[in-house]
Amino acid sequence: MDISIFGMGYVGTVSGACFASMGHRVIGVDANPVKTGSIARGESPILEKNLPELISEGVRSGRLMMSGPEEAVSGSCMTFVCVGTPGNGNGSPNTEYIRRVCSEIGGCLKHKRDFHIVVIRSTLLPGGTEEIVIPELEKSSGKEAGADFGVIFHPEFMREGSSITDFFHPPMTVIAGHGENRPEAVSGLYSGIDAPLIMTEYRVAETIKFVSNAFHALKIAFANEIGSLCKLMNIDSHSVMDLFCRDDKLNISRAYLKPGFAFGGSCLPKDLRALNHRAKTLDLDLPLMRSILDANRIHIERTLSLIYPYRGRRIGILGLSFKAGTDDLRESPMVTLVETLIGKGFKISLYDRNISIPMLTGANREYIFREIPHICSILSHELEKLVEDSDVLVIGYSEEELRRLIGRFRPDQVIIDLVRFLSPADVRGKKFIYHGLCW
Ligand SMILES: NC(=O)c1ccc[n+]([C@@H]2O[C@H](COP(=O)([O-])OP(=O)(O)OC[C@H]3O[C@@H](n4cnc5c(N)ncnc54)[C@H](O)[C@@H]3O)[C@@H](O)[C@H]2O)c1
Repeated sequence: MDISIFGMGYVGTVSGACFASMGHRVIGVDANPVKTGSIARGESPILEKNLPELISEGVRSGRLMMSGPEEAVSGSCMTFVCVGTPGNGNGSPNTEYIRRVCSEIGGCLKHKRDFHIVVIRSTLLPGGTEEIVIPELEKSSGKEAGADFGVIFHPEFMREGSSITDFFHPPMTVIAGHGENRPEAVSGLYSGIDAPLIMTEYRVAETIKFVSNAFHALKIAFANEIGSLCKLMNIDSHSVMDLFCRDDKLNISRAYLKPGFAFGGSCLPKDLRALNHRAKTLDLDLPLMRSILDANRIHIERTLSLIYPYRGRRIGILGLSFKAGTDDLRESPMVTLVETLIGKGFKISLYDRNISIPMLTGANREYIFREIPHICSILSHELEKLVEDSDVLVIGYSEEELRRLIGRFRPDQVIIDLVRFLSPADVRGKKFIYHGLCW
């Protein structure tokens, strides 16, 4: 394919050289003549393993060349935008280069008759494609996105230092844009690359890049705090983290990565407090570790603020234990939720198929009677009656027995879902009012 790339920095140069090595014809454009001059001579403008060889081979074969904007757009069927989005002083990304380059590309599209696809590889905050890219392209071209040209958002996951390997072996290929934008033309570029191909919508693709980078940063900060604590306790942090990484069921896994309600139970809060206490006794500041319980508390407050507007209505709460399938109530965030609502004068009924007061024993029994002494008077044993008698239903656990009652939710009922019990398909077209906690 004939591809043009605007912005021959790290992403643009690596992508251009790799596409050329796959047999595509690549025309690069950059505002910096030092970079374009260096690539045109077959030299790499950046230090990156194996890149000089790919660039010199691309230029020698005639598959990688530099030119001006007009020639690049007219001589290709799609344009990759790889200009920088550096941070402003206040943390917001500077989108000035994106705006300028889109305006330039749009100006070139004005004179082009064939359908052209603009592929955004630069990192944009959610909404950027629809709020910045498309309006700029439409304004400067006088044409309509979707009808006259396509716009695809296609995030980049390569890492500097191993970007060539990452280009050919990406974790996944993400391509966003509805059918009229011709996403299949972009996915066709990767037919030789063995990676899952994910077609999605603009905002999901824009967000994934930030979520991934935030998670990488979180992991590094976490490992470093663990390392610092281990060092002061004379424990080899690498032995600890090697062992930690061996667990790919709970630790390095999909577990605990779905947005939902707060954590609780008899282990997580207690052990976090113990770890923080040990750090404090060692005069070690671990801001990340310190902030986790706070983040959890604020999540419970966020949940309460969804329920507060319904003061005076009958609130039915499903689930009391800290997770489905257990009767352990210790430090259950559902107990905190119920106790706070009762304290504020809310009229509550509760149902949890796993909780039977006579069966509770030991620390578990002690805990619940200390937190909610009048638990017996609000605990219902009939799910159907509780659902029927509630104006507001708070779903705090995923139990299949509730599924058969979805069809009976009334239009006047409000469903507050803390565990994504209802999927978007369950909710679509239904008359009841639905609030997802964090979706
Ligand atoms: N560097 C990475 O590892 C990496 C990885 C994934 C995503 N990204 C994202 O990709 C984007 C590009 O990152 P980068 O590191 O390659 O940036 P960079 O600063 O290395 O390169 C950007 C290039 O764009 C050029 N440019 C600016 N305005 C232009 C214009 N109007 N016309 C032509 N060229 C123009 C600049 O001269 C520069 O060479 C950013 O949004 C970044 O967040 C970067």
